[in-house]
Amino acid sequence: MPRIVVVGSINMDLVTLAPRFPGPGETLLGSRFLTAHGGKGANQAVAAARLGAEVAMVGALGCDAFGDQLHAGLAREGIALDHVVRLADEGSGSASITVAAGENQIIVVPAANARVSPAQVEAARDAIARADAVLVQLEIPLDAVEATLRLARRENVPVILNPAPAQKLPAEWLKLASYLTPNQHELATALGADEQTDFRELMRRAPCPVVLTRGSEGAWYRDDVHPEPAHQAGFKVDAIDTTGAGDTFNGALAVFLHEGLPAAVRKACAAAALSVTKLGAQGGMPSAHEVVALLAH
Ligand code: RIB
Repeated sequence: MPRIVVVGSINMDLVTLAPRFPGPGETLLGSRFLTAHGGKGANQAVAAARLGAEVAMVGALGCDAFGDQLHAGLAREGIALDHVVRLADEGSGSASITVAAGENQIIVVPAANARVSPAQVEAARDAIARADAVLVQLEIPLDAVEATLRLARRENVPVILNPAPAQKLPAEWLKLASYLTPNQHELATALGADEQTDFRELMRRAPCPVVLTRGSEGAWYRDDVHPEPAHQAGFKVDAIDTTGAGDTFNGALAVFLHEGLPAAVRKACAAAALSVTKLGAQGGMPSAHEVVALLAH
């Protein structure tokens, strides 16, 4: 059972289903509204836990009703929450999500997530030192992200940096990541490169191994063993909601990393494909058994 630590955000997703995305100033009638547990960090933690990993989360929630629900949801998934703080003077993070024709648009209000600190990461040193892999994203303050990268490196634990939402990052940090897991837009932004640059060229420019996700087209990877970008095709499914597909990919990648990068990327693509077949970021996240069944087909 791999041990995974996730340092990241926890959000309540406020999801509206619509026939299409509204234009500026336009009002549309949607067909359904639901609240669903989300946040890139929490999603990656849940994805890894469903796949059988022992998962600990480092994050922050408010003492509000959303915070109670999100905390209980993560606990139900068996995720260790000793390093999730509850803040009395801040609300929990939220994300307003519109889903139309299987695609999504998201606005995140970080709230408590903006208070995740380097000290909190340091306090989780023992859990990080014992982990088989650490996952971190960019919905928490950058000093906490940097502290995570440096601590994982110091403890010799592989650290996956999922650079989402897109931000330009110091080259020095990228070197600290054992794996960078962007989509094309996130990689161009992280490197400060032209968006039109071919994604394989961007992958060659990155100063660390890269696993680049391409939605239904699957993923590409490049590391020391595969210096030229290699392709893993996506798995064909009927997409209902792509929210959280990237998070499922990241959680699975961390869980299966010990099998080698090609095998881990293949399983991560399968897990991500399964995740889009149900509504909500965490709704379709599969078990290891479901991933194996898809791969056997
Ligand atoms: O990656 C999907 C997630 O992004 C959603 O669950 C939402 O909370 C935002 O953080």
